[in-house]
Amino acid sequence: MTEHFYTQLDFTTPQGRPLIACNMVMSLDGKVTAGGRLEPGSIGSTFDLHTMHMIRSHFDAVLSGGNTVRQHPFYLGVPTELERIRLERGLAFQPLSIVLTGSGRVDAQTPLFTQAPRPPIIITSRAGAASLPGELKAKAEVEILEEAAPANIAALLYAKHGVRRLLVEGGPSVNYQFMQARLLDELFITLAPKLIGLRTDFTLAMGDDLLPQPEQAELLSIHQHGQELFLRYRFQWK
Ligand SMILES: NC(=O)c1ccc[n+]([C@@H]2O[C@H](COP(=O)([O-])OP(=O)(O)OC[C@H]3O[C@@H](n4cnc5c(N)ncnc54)[C@H](OP(=O)(O)O)[C@@H]3O)[C@@H](O)[C@H]2O)c1
Repeated sequence: MTEHFYTQLDFTTPQGRPLIACNMVMSLDGKVTAGGRLEPGSIGSTFDLHTMHMIRSHFDAVLSGGNTVRQHPFYLGVPTELERIRLERGLAFQPLSIVLTGSGRVDAQTPLFTQAPRPPIIITSRAGAASLPGELKAKAEVEILEEAAPANIAALLYAKHGVRRLLVEGGPSVNYQFMQARLLDELFITLAPKLIGLRTDFTLAMGDDLLPQPEQAELLSIHQHGQELFLRYRFQWK
């Protein structure tokens, strides 16, 4: 395998909580969906997909929100050829997949659960857990958080599941919450040479209020591959 620019990544892990990063692919006009969805190739290239796996290979766990998982019901893992690299880094062979859902609307018959190399974790409320399909209990671990705020999610994953590096992979409503909580330490962005234009398509972080500004947003690295740019920012919050 040829060396990827993200093969070696150094992270500064905070005290008492996981390092939290987010990775998203975005079009030139700032959209992260194309026609309300993200299909393979609709914004990012095959190389971007490979890059997503390379980034995942550094993390203990990968988290996505219910809408993203319902559209892409696949394990948030790495291809088998990256498992050895993870083990050499002292990580588990695959990252933990974590699904955030309030409704409990998760399909147990999708590859996320039927082909999972490790049982995914579902974070939900008591009411959400009651709506989960019964057969899911054997395929996933359900964590109840009545208030699933980012700080509570991070504390739970840190203390109970040993998560020291957490990768958030959207969607925009989940990204927004981690930014609003000033808990996002790093942001990986792929800028893809696509134009979307549709008013209703999503941007990288979406919520109801203006986000706080990080005290510092440091551009740690920038790489070009083909016509795509790969940016890595580090945030510091007051
Ligand atoms: N371009 C990219 O890199 C990229 C990456 C990821 C996703 N996407 C796209 O983003 C779109 C989805 O984004 P989205 O913002 O609509 O949805 P989302 O963030 O994926 O999911 C939102 C859902 O997550 C659950 N959720 C969020 N916060 C929660 C909390 N604090 N407690 C409990 N549950 C919580 C809820 O699930 P329930 O509805 O189950 O209650 C909520 O409806 C998709 O089209 C996807 O393809 C793009």
